[in-house]
Amino acid sequence: MKHLVVICHPRRKSFTQAIAKSYVQAVETLGNEVVVRDLYRLHFDPVLGEGELLDAKKRVTSRAVRTEQRHVSEAGAIAFFYPLWWAFMPAMMKGYIDRVLSCGFAYDIKIDEMIPRLTGKKALIFTSSGADMAYLRQSKQWSSMRLLEEEHILSLCGIELLEHVHFASVLPDLPQRSIDKHLSIAAKAAQKHWGSTPAAQG
Ligand SMILES: Cc1cc2nc3c(=O)[nH]c(=O)nc-3n(C[C@H](O)[C@H](O)[C@H](O)COP(=O)(O)O)c2cc1C
Repeated sequence: MKHLVVICHPRRKSFTQAIAKSYVQAVETLGNEVVVRDLYRLHFDPVLGEGELLDAKKRVTSRAVRTEQRHVSEAGAIAFFYPLWWAFMPAMMKGYIDRVLSCGFAYDIKIDEMIPRLTGKKALIFTSSGADMAYLRQSKQWSSMRLLEEEHILSLCGIELLEHVHFASVLPDLPQRSIDKHLSIAAKAAQKHWGSTPAAQG
């Protein structure tokens, strides 16, 4: 199966990037093809333009967006990596969703019904936060994140979420042994979900 990995973090040496690298290595070790789309390194433009909201016949879809949509189409599995910023995903990640998972590509609207168009694809989400789990729950950040990101966005497109792996209390002074433990959790998630998958090119 072909795997798509979408990373959203401005710093190359961030925790988010390290977790993504560990996951990618594990998926590749299992014999799968992985396409990495590092949104900041690609200078992905997250701003949805007027032309993208025109009627289907007049709609303007940029080459950059078409490229990302092709990667989504070709992938059987998609993994998203991003930090929690102000109780939500970074604007770059949100812009990717706005523009790439567009109407007519990721879903259709028929009268008052939403028709998913990415059915059959599976996803994993890897996030991190500075706050601990107790505070995320108490402050409702966790429920808003789950409702908006997992239950609304992915399911509406027909993408099945296999797991949301969240790393809480990721602060600048996180000891190396904790980082190593988290890296191995990311690799284990890959083994858990893709360990028995035949490495067919999809
Ligand atoms: C702009 C910004 C907003 C943030 N907002 C939150 C937040 O709402 N809740 C939280 O727990 N952590 C917040 N954080 C902390 C990050 O989630 C945390 O530093 C990150 O997950 C660590 O991983 P990284 O090294 O990949 O950035 C924020 C950080 C930044 C830069």
